[in-house]
Amino acid sequence: MKWFTIPLSSLSSADVQLIVVNSKKLTLVQHQGNYHVFANKCPHAGGDLTNGWCTEGFLVCPIHRYQYNLENGRGAIGQGDYLRKYPVKIVGENLMVGFKKLWFKFW
Ligand code: FES
Repeated sequence: MKWFTIPLSSLSSADVQLIVVNSKKLTLVQHQGNYHVFANKCPHAGGDLTNGWCTEGFLVCPIHRYQYNLENGRGAIGQGDYLRKYPVKIVGENLMVGFKKLWFKFW
């Protein structure tokens, strides 16, 4: 796992926002004091999830309103899809976002 640092002071107070980590656009969700980082594109039809919102523990895509569980990225019942979730941790005043090292073989 390779970890990238984002200063917490650089984040807005928005529940859902775009972050760029290692030149990759990702969706950051702040919900009930926890941080969740997901892929930026919705797996259904590529909607921009940074324009989505959070409800009852799910990230909602603004295009067709598919929902993804904040804890594991699983689509809501009946969707049969999955949103990539990245590991995060807080270290001091920074949010750390983890990428599997396999990704770096293709970049
Ligand atoms: S593009 Fe996200 S629900 Fe269709």
